[in-house]
Amino acid sequence: MLVSEQSSKTKVQSSGPLRVAILSPEAVPFAKVGGLADVSGALPKALHAEGLDSFLILPLYDQIDRSLLTGPFIEDLEVLWRGKRPRVSIWKSDAMEAPAYLIDAPYYFARGKIYGDNDDFERFAFFCRAAIALLKRLDGPPDVFHCNDWPCGFAAVEIRARRRQEEYFANTKILFSIHNIAYQGFFNPSDLWWLDFSAHTDDFMLKGAASALKAGIIASDALSTVSPRYAQEIQTPEQGYGLEWLMRARRDRLAGITNGVDYDIWNPETDPHIAANFSANDLSGKRLCKLDLLRRFGLPEEPERPIIAIISRLVAQKGYDLIRQAARGILDTGAFFIALGAGAKEYEDFLQSWHDTAPNRVGIYKGFAGEPLAHQIEAGADLFLMPSLYEPCGLNQMYSMRYGTVPIVRATGGLDDTVQQFDPATNQGTGFKFGPHTVAAMLEKIREALYFYKQREVWETIQRNGMTTDNSWSAAARKYIQLYQEISEH
Ligand code: ADP
Ligand code: GLC
Repeated sequence: MLVSEQSSKTKVQSSGPLRVAILSPEAVPFAKVGGLADVSGALPKALHAEGLDSFLILPLYDQIDRSLLTGPFIEDLEVLWRGKRPRVSIWKSDAMEAPAYLIDAPYYFARGKIYGDNDDFERFAFFCRAAIALLKRLDGPPDVFHCNDWPCGFAAVEIRARRRQEEYFANTKILFSIHNIAYQGFFNPSDLWWLDFSAHTDDFMLKGAASALKAGIIASDALSTVSPRYAQEIQTPEQGYGLEWLMRARRDRLAGITNGVDYDIWNPETDPHIAANFSANDLSGKRLCKLDLLRRFGLPEEPERPIIAIISRLVAQKGYDLIRQAARGILDTGAFFIALGAGAKEYEDFLQSWHDTAPNRVGIYKGFAGEPLAHQIEAGADLFLMPSLYEPCGLNQMYSMRYGTVPIVRATGGLDDTVQQFDPATNQGTGFKFGPHTVAAMLEKIREALYFYKQREVWETIQRNGMTTDNSWSAAARKYIQLYQEISEH
């Protein structure tokens, strides 16, 4: 597609499908730390299915499975960086239907991990600059440049600046999606000059430091976050993490679009990772999955005893302080507890000591397990606990519902939007929700859920309510498309 001299409105209408470049630091099936990877893998595919010309750009980390890639697609991409012009190569993948381009810069991305180094800001600033250099080598400029979370903030700032100067990007609009406003991408403002962003210092400055998130939010034409409730919450001092004023100032440009579930990957009827497939019409396979799960975690094969599970990053956001305080109370309910998690050492230590004191009741896996174990837990557990302090969207509650695993969630963000409290008077509802972030409120809800767990028919109704809820990506993709169209036409 060539850059049009006409208005962007005419261009969008006259020159074929909307072209959307999605920039993300992680994406399934390549590299994953959390839900951003699930979303960045599913959205380009869902947009592609709706007829858009969508593609993904991400770093080529050393842990990415090379058999997913072809190339090099470009061998000598010059990136203007610190006054020099280093060359990187670009690999391509068709593993997700929409094309993915991966930036091969081993100095920055062969670190054995995705995040967590002191120079993360520099690594992702480089990624952004290389991604923009790549855009100039592809078939034409994107109509929309869709940036995700703080690592892509640099790209939003750079595109805004370059479209004023370069005809190539003149009609490229920027959407910035906030998946978690608490991760603000801080670094020392004195680094702005050599990163070539000193002209934008005011946009970056937040709490006395430079924030890639804040600059990205300011530079973008429109903003989105991953649930309507979280879109409201980040406009408050409690959840805005110091950016509530900016979210309020830009609230007319802020959309809340709930993430979907990729049912090609998360579907108990076809899931290759689980002991037996099952569906809303025939739940018998779920019992086999439960036995398999108990065996995997070395727990006694007592299929009548409920399993409460959690899969999450081990961070305060996920409510691990509540779980720690409620540990004894949870076991007093008679349930098994199975936890899969990687993250803060204090929570890993807690899980280990909990397991050590009750090895027949608590099963743990510390570390990032990859996909199969997460699927086996979703399939084999009875209840899924998400006592989050805050939760922009959350995906596991939706995966759980699909697998007949009833979620118990705190009513916050996307958890509140996607889980409907069960009402025994009407038999409506997909799970259990508590409001106050307290041990008492959480234990009360767990007991309420277990009361119904013992009534098999009622329980199967709740399971089926969840299993038949449609959280597929197509509805979310259509909302993104509407947003892309709106910004492209202005
Ligand atoms: P967040 O993005 O805040 O971590 P989400 O609920 O959106 O939370 O997504 C978490 C994703 O990461 C899910 O796909 C979940 O199964 C996966 N996940 C989290 N921790 C682990 C782990 N230790 N091992 C495997 N998968 C994990
Ligand atoms: C973030 C949020 C999580 C959300 C995910 C994908 O990591 O913590 O709630 O589901 O992004 O949008």
